[in-house]
Amino acid sequence: MTSLTEKLSILTGKAFTTCNLPAEYGTVRISDRPDLAQFQCNGAMGAAKAAKKNPREIADNIVRHLKEYGIFSKIEIAGPGFINFDITDDYLTAHLSEIMQNSRLGIEKYAAGETVIVDYVGPNVAKAMHVGHLRPTIIGDCIKRILAFSGYNALGDVHIGDWGLQMGQVISAFAQRHPEWSYFNPNFQGEYPEQPPFNYSELEEIYPQASAACKADPSQLEKAQQATKEFQGGRAGYWALGQQFTTLSKAHIKQNMDSVGVKFEIWKGEADAASLIPVVEKDLREKNIFEESQGALVIPIAKNSDNKEMPPLMYYKSDGATTYGTTDLVTLYDRVESYGAALAKIVYVVDKRQNLHFEQVFRAARKAGYVQEAPELVHIGFGTLNGADGKPFKTREGGIMRFDQLVTMAKDKALQRLEEANLAGDLDDARKQDIAHKVGVAAIKFADLSNQPHVDYIFDMERMVNFEGKTGPYILYQAVRIQSLLRKAEEQNFKISGEAVITISDQDRPLALLLTEMPDAFDAALRHYMPHHLCDYAYRLAAGFSSFYGNCHILSESDEARKASRLALCALTCRQLALVLGWLGIDIPERM
Ligand code: ARG
Repeated sequence: MTSLTEKLSILTGKAFTTCNLPAEYGTVRISDRPDLAQFQCNGAMGAAKAAKKNPREIADNIVRHLKEYGIFSKIEIAGPGFINFDITDDYLTAHLSEIMQNSRLGIEKYAAGETVIVDYVGPNVAKAMHVGHLRPTIIGDCIKRILAFSGYNALGDVHIGDWGLQMGQVISAFAQRHPEWSYFNPNFQGEYPEQPPFNYSELEEIYPQASAACKADPSQLEKAQQATKEFQGGRAGYWALGQQFTTLSKAHIKQNMDSVGVKFEIWKGEADAASLIPVVEKDLREKNIFEESQGALVIPIAKNSDNKEMPPLMYYKSDGATTYGTTDLVTLYDRVESYGAALAKIVYVVDKRQNLHFEQVFRAARKAGYVQEAPELVHIGFGTLNGADGKPFKTREGGIMRFDQLVTMAKDKALQRLEEANLAGDLDDARKQDIAHKVGVAAIKFADLSNQPHVDYIFDMERMVNFEGKTGPYILYQAVRIQSLLRKAEEQNFKISGEAVITISDQDRPLALLLTEMPDAFDAALRHYMPHHLCDYAYRLAAGFSSFYGNCHILSESDEARKASRLALCALTCRQLALVLGWLGIDIPERM
């Protein structure tokens, strides 16, 4: 169905065409100044400039036509030619009824099942997940959910880092600790152990040591590089060991992702495209795309129009090892080959410090012809999550904050806040813990998504786990409140119907108007990959409901028709909040 601003834009556009002006000038937006009007159209200024006419005169003519529609309760011209208007309550209620009866609550589909791959999180094998994985997890998951709702077949790919130097570092560290293991015997012919002779904790402990050793001692680094090269070259024992790192790491990653309700459709890693490295190499040689540079094989991607340095994408280093650029290019080739014409987009949600890397990969893919018009390639580069000191967020002791530690911290804080607010006091411990977990995760997700992806922001647990203000817990609290109100109505045998006749008084109008805005918020979030528009909407809706609840009689309303109308508004608010929170990846507890 058509959104309210779109309907109004169409009508206003017609008024412009009637005045022999282009319909585009009729675009209507929700007013920036709700104290002055509900909606605004700023097109008279643009039209006047293009037609070299007086904007006020144009606005006057447009308004004359608008008045004929009979759907505006007020139309005014302000300043140089802003058209401000309110719609009649009849027009508003007719539109609301349409939304209530629409299974998508008024949001059109944007796609017809084309595939989108969202590449996000990309944790490295053998390395405990940490605070740095929080943003891609939250943002990537939200982007995927929005794309799915908009009609795409949205697939999340975790793209595990199972190919780079960290593999060689851990392999060579194990080789030094356990030289007797069959993996390290180049002449070994038997079967490698099915179960790894180590567990995840050992893997997780050995990685930072190995990485520190490589930093401190060049001979260790050399060993790690050699092991990486042999691993990548397919040395059997190393490959078998690498598979075991990956298996253990996947379980660790899955556990962390489960804890925040994030699921992946594709559990591939960098190494999964490894067998294609020679295939792509051959293709690129045939297309004459490579250049040799000091023993390395590179793809030059600089253009004359560049105003910054654009180093080539390194396909093979001079020692024959491949790079992060190689695996991303080959993975992209793999995706394009596997999904063919159905693949509409690949969206990478990766740290903005990797901007250059993605620019290189995208340009190389275009140069090679793997990407022409489609698929669209998007890199959503997110900023850093900082502590109060403006530096990357750490534990109190200054160490790396683990992912699970952070989630537990949020849950603990939520539990404390629930107790302070006297909430959930009557529930048993298991239910209380579950609610605290949901509130904690909601707090973290909402705080993150409220910021635009590319900005750095300060991680302030005290503020985000708060039942007041623009926070996840506040919105959850309002959602739970509506749920309980609707439950009570049901207990009183009150049927809430999508067909209820909405009647609008001054107290109902602000909420009724808000309930028409969701498609605008969704559109802005989807078009620009900016979930904060949804956070803003969720907050305004929750706050709008809270005022409505404070100002109006609902269950206690004696006029039955008015009561039915108000409960229908509450029910719609509840459905909308559930939908928006769902896009944000936030679960609503049954109660608090
Ligand atoms: N493993 C990479 C890292 O730790 C992130 C992977 C992001 N995705 C990608 N396709 N490059 O930085």
